[in-house]
Amino acid sequence: MEQLVLDSRTRLLVLTGAGVSAESGVPTFRGMNGLWENHPVEAVASPEGFQADPALVWRFYSQRRTGAADVKPNPGHDALVRWEAHLGDRFLLATQNVDGLHARAGSQRVVDMHGNLFRTKCADCRREPFDDTSVHPSGTVPKCDSCGGRLRPDIVWFGEMLASADLERIGEFVSRKDGTRLVFLAAGTSGAVWPAAGLVDEVRTVGAETWLVNSESAANTERFQHFVQGLSGQVLPTLAKLV
Ligand code: OAD
Repeated sequence: MEQLVLDSRTRLLVLTGAGVSAESGVPTFRGMNGLWENHPVEAVASPEGFQADPALVWRFYSQRRTGAADVKPNPGHDALVRWEAHLGDRFLLATQNVDGLHARAGSQRVVDMHGNLFRTKCADCRREPFDDTSVHPSGTVPKCDSCGGRLRPDIVWFGEMLASADLERIGEFVSRKDGTRLVFLAAGTSGAVWPAAGLVDEVRTVGAETWLVNSESAANTERFQHFVQGLSGQVLPTLAKLV
């Protein structure tokens, strides 16, 4: 297998998707061929879906909270923690996953691009999002104790913008001029959802070395210089040479 060299001249941006959590037992999105109880995920994980049937949306996320509550990080998550320890502030992890497994594994320099399954916010007022593991399987809609409005999971839904602070943090890392060379590695993502799917094009504009680790070819595989086909839990632990 080709080796990814992580030395003192390297700045590494990693993007992870649902495939990195698959070996921990968290189902991927396309693995469910995009359906949940015969609803397209886009119809449930969207402002329109919440407007139409907030109880259904809470059933969906309650199931995911229950499913994600007792899963454990896998060797792919652990490899990323080692890479971060080796590179320090020359490492940044942008994840599309909302399961919190990177934090549970010990990753600290993480951008939760799509929010966090175990955080809740109010759909109707600007109260601060708060940590929340509560589940509502019968489909009740929890109410905001500040405004009485509807609470919702603090997840970036289809059609919603990512937090500008998150995009700025990633953009700063990509455009940093500190004499290091940028390496970009995407793992376990189908390259189907933007803007995450466009990161590979953004980093190529600054001449980054690009890697994709995925169990199958992805929508944007040809945009990567290196494609290592395999399970992230098996590939990531031996892919990098820490110099
Ligand atoms: P997907 O389910 O679209 O893609 C997962 C990718 O990982 C697929 O290409 C699989 O082939 C691959 N894969 C599966 N198991 C793997 C493993 N063990 N090792 C390596 N690769 C593996 O998930 P995402 O690309 O993350 O959005 O989906 C992006 C977004 O679409 C998600 O963040 C979610 C979803 O709707 C929100 O939640 C807002």
